Amino acid sequence: MEKLIFEKSSPGRIGYSLPNLEIEKKNISEFIPKEYLRKEAAELPEVSEIEIARHFQHLSHLNFNIEKGMYPLGSCTMKYNPKVNEKVAAMDGFANLHPFSRDENAQGALKMMFELGECLKKITGLPGVSLQPAAGSQGELTGILTFKKYFETRGETNKTVILIPDSAHGTNPASAAMAGFDIVSVKSGPDGRIDLDDLKAKCIDNVAGLMLTNPNTLGLFETDVIEIEKLVHGCGGLIYMDGANLNALLTIARAGDMKFDCVHINLHKTFSTPHGGGGPGAGPICVSEKLIEFLPVPNIEKHGEEYKLNYNFPNTVGKVHTFGGNFGVLVRAYTYIRMLGEVGLKRVSENAVINANYILSKIKDYFEVPYPGYCLHECIISGNFQKRDGVSTRDIAKRLLDLGFHAPTIYFPLVVKEAMLIEPTETENLENLDGFIKAMIQIATEAKEEPDTVLQAPVTTPLRRLDEATANRNLDIRWRKEAVTA
Ligand SMILES: Cc1ncc(COP(=O)(O)O)c(C=O)c1O
Repeated sequence: MEKLIFEKSSPGRIGYSLPNLEIEKKNISEFIPKEYLRKEAAELPEVSEIEIARHFQHLSHLNFNIEKGMYPLGSCTMKYNPKVNEKVAAMDGFANLHPFSRDENAQGALKMMFELGECLKKITGLPGVSLQPAAGSQGELTGILTFKKYFETRGETNKTVILIPDSAHGTNPASAAMAGFDIVSVKSGPDGRIDLDDLKAKCIDNVAGLMLTNPNTLGLFETDVIEIEKLVHGCGGLIYMDGANLNALLTIARAGDMKFDCVHINLHKTFSTPHGGGGPGAGPICVSEKLIEFLPVPNIEKHGEEYKLNYNFPNTVGKVHTFGGNFGVLVRAYTYIRMLGEVGLKRVSENAVINANYILSKIKDYFEVPYPGYCLHECIISGNFQKRDGVSTRDIAKRLLDLGFHAPTIYFPLVVKEAMLIEPTETENLENLDGFIKAMIQIATEAKEEPDTVLQAPVTTPLRRLDEATANRNLDIRWRKEAVTA
């Protein structure tokens, strides 16, 4: 096993050169309160620059990432994140702008945010926007809080229920419950789309709204969206679009045209920010006319050639993030949108959809396909056939790692047993898609003919199978001397 950086340490070696201190060492206690001063030197590795460079390279190789191989994690849109985004986000005027800067000293940043907001309004076809939420889930919470305020201002205290399809992402019911609503689940029909009869039966007076993911988490467009909208609006409710899957719809279908009152957009997915391991993200929301007054403050406004923050919205739900939201992610999304333009964005969605359908068409004879037909930007298959041979979807996912691919999303959505949700994204070329297809077919064959190969996987990763719950809940990545010397 590769030696860790502490084990390579040798007294006196250095990998840095710092400018001389401007203050005398002996006077440090004048500047730093005594209780904060170290009693003994920190135990840090003493290594040369090349060793530290190798150390970080090595760490990056231990993990799977989009620059290592295809990462078809359904619903997460792990597309390639263009390097130009990073360059722009690191520009001095963006990266080093003080968050307390006065409006007149932050015109460039405000302009960028205003223009991003305008782009998102155009992309969603809705007239109001807030860039503040820091994730899709926080966008959901913020959007549903605007629903709540809407009913409160109208004195409609009977509106206590949010309807949520059973295929929805777990954050949907969590957000609605956090906003103080009761949740009622709506069934999916045999075609994977919302069951209209079940929805009809549940659209009664107490319904404040419906949260609908479109395309839904099965990768299917909710073709009855107009009928659904009529039912929900018909009982005095509002309709929320979980726009996490917007990668399939760019410039093709807009939330506003489908009469949604609110949509959140996962900028980190659709508009490309590296977002593995839980962050960073941004989940702006766009809203219909009737919800604009409830949006978080401040609103970014353009007066002539000047940009200003306006806090004067008495009915606002308040602030949901400090300053301008997750600013660096906003810069990346803005760069991405401006680089591609309308034509480029359309090609993103078209290629994302074509790629997912290409994979589905090539593997459909080897795996169970719960909803036959075309999909949008991701396809859902089931490992049910393999399960009968004693190989689970988890085993298939592990084996994919050995073959150089990140696993798709597994066991989600819950309505499909042994689910595998595959989202190749538009950034993979034909050779990579074919490589993934070949790997999936190989695993299906192994599951039948030599199941042990799949059951033993992964054998090529730095660690084999972990206790996933413990690894997640008690993540421990600290180096300890005792652990090595023990
Ligand atoms: C359909 C759907 N909705 C909501 C979310 C939540 O988004 P975030 O992870 O940015 O909070 C996700 C995240 O994967 C999602 O796939």
